[in-house]
Amino acid sequence: MLIGLLLLFLLSVTYGQVPPTDRNCGHDLANLWLDVVVVVDNSAPMTQEGLTEVAAQIVTVFGAGTRIGTNYIDKRTTRVGLVTYNTEATIQADLNRFQSPDDLFSTVFQILPNDLSTSEDVFLAKGIGAAEQLLAAGRKNNTRKNYKQMVIVYASAYNDEGEEDPRPIAERLKASGVSIATVAFDQTGDEEMIKLIGEIATPGFNFTNEDENLVKEIQTAMIQTNCYCSNLWTQYRETFEDPHSSKFGVCLRPVALTAGWTPAKFACQNMIQTGYMVTEYDQKKHDYVFKLVRNDTSFPEPYVYHIGLSYVNGGYAWQQPVGHALVPLNDSLWNPGFPTQSSTTTAVLNQQSSSAFRVGWQNVNQYTVSERYVCEVAACDTSTYCE
Ligand SMILES: *[C@@H]1O[C@H](CO)[C@@H](O)[C@H](O)[C@H]1NC(C)=O
Ligand SMILES: *[C@@H]1O[C@H](CO)[C@@H](O)[C@H](O)[C@H]1NC(C)=O
Ligand SMILES: *[C@@H]1O[C@H](CO)[C@@H](O)[C@H](O)[C@H]1NC(C)=O
Ligand SMILES: *[C@@H]1O[C@H](CO)[C@@H](O)[C@H](O)[C@H]1NC(C)=O
Repeated sequence: MLIGLLLLFLLSVTYGQVPPTDRNCGHDLANLWLDVVVVVDNSAPMTQEGLTEVAAQIVTVFGAGTRIGTNYIDKRTTRVGLVTYNTEATIQADLNRFQSPDDLFSTVFQILPNDLSTSEDVFLAKGIGAAEQLLAAGRKNNTRKNYKQMVIVYASAYNDEGEEDPRPIAERLKASGVSIATVAFDQTGDEEMIKLIGEIATPGFNFTNEDENLVKEIQTAMIQTNCYCSNLWTQYRETFEDPHSSKFGVCLRPVALTAGWTPAKFACQNMIQTGYMVTEYDQKKHDYVFKLVRNDTSFPEPYVYHIGLSYVNGGYAWQQPVGHALVPLNDSLWNPGFPTQSSTTTAVLNQQSSSAFRVGWQNVNQYTVSERYVCEVAACDTSTYCE
């Protein structure tokens, strides 16, 4: 028994804890919650074979157990609309039409392969214009305002002459938070056409039907779209300067009111359900939080702000949502001379050093040192539904 315990102890010392990492975006397609309009070019150059391929792709993209329609107890549901277009657009299905996966799949296979137009001309603007209408209609009476919206466009040609310029509509959609994925349906190897179609996409969501993992790419785009932060919160990303770099499933919010560490901790918990004071598991996150604070003009220099680190039961540990065990400290970003030993200085803040444009950790009294602070919460995504 004793030997067993000793062994366990040695093992845990030898192998240590896996260092904590920030949460990734939920990526369970069965729990996707989105409003998606699929826009399909059905001009003659697409060919019946091409349209059959598109139908098969739509079925595969949404065939991972995604709840199609709205008649489910679980609110993580996805509505799918369908538009075809050539010189004009046809709304084949609005966002309320499909109420089960089978309904979507059988209808897509009935419609698309049998709907090839004789028109050689095709105007992308008509297609995404109809998608814009469908998305607006789907929001009537504030329906599903918390669901992200997405347009998936299959296009075999690009035309931006005069009224047929698709870019203003695409810009308007993206500016209002809709993401656009494009699939350039390339029959002739026209690189310029592929590039122009891709330019209306949300950065990183420009694909072609030649992509080996097209279905996976579209699904990843949907998962990234579904992963977002509520108003006033900033998503933690790979790169602060690039608003399209890949997302973590983590939202951050600097708070410019001053409070002691313990009141700040409670303020984060009360600000939003499952909120807590920010973690800085590694240098990358530490730097990101610092950039976020510097970008907030209500934080004065020198920069000082509480973070969710404190001394508890003999060690430093990170805050977590209420009800979850704290996470032991792994990385170490203390300012020189810290942490100091004292039973009263158990709370940690970031303090800008006088000589350098950087911040480091310092332990302080948890009640008497009033500073600004940063809160954190899990992003809304396939594992976290947000009302
Ligand atoms: C919106 O609400 C009004 C009044 O509550 C109702 O008459 C109308 O049918 C609703 N429209 C939609 C699209 O749900
Ligand atoms: C998507 O856009 C990027 C950046 O413009 C480009 O480098 C890439 O080749 C494009 N991909 C496709 C499939 O067009
Ligand atoms: C930085 O601040 C500007 C101005 O307030 C804001 O528009 C921008 O979104 C901020 N950047 C980030 C990544 O929060
Ligand atoms: C963090 O964890 C890694 C992996 O277990 C370990 O190698 C590293 O020494 C730890 N760092 C600190 C400061 O504890």
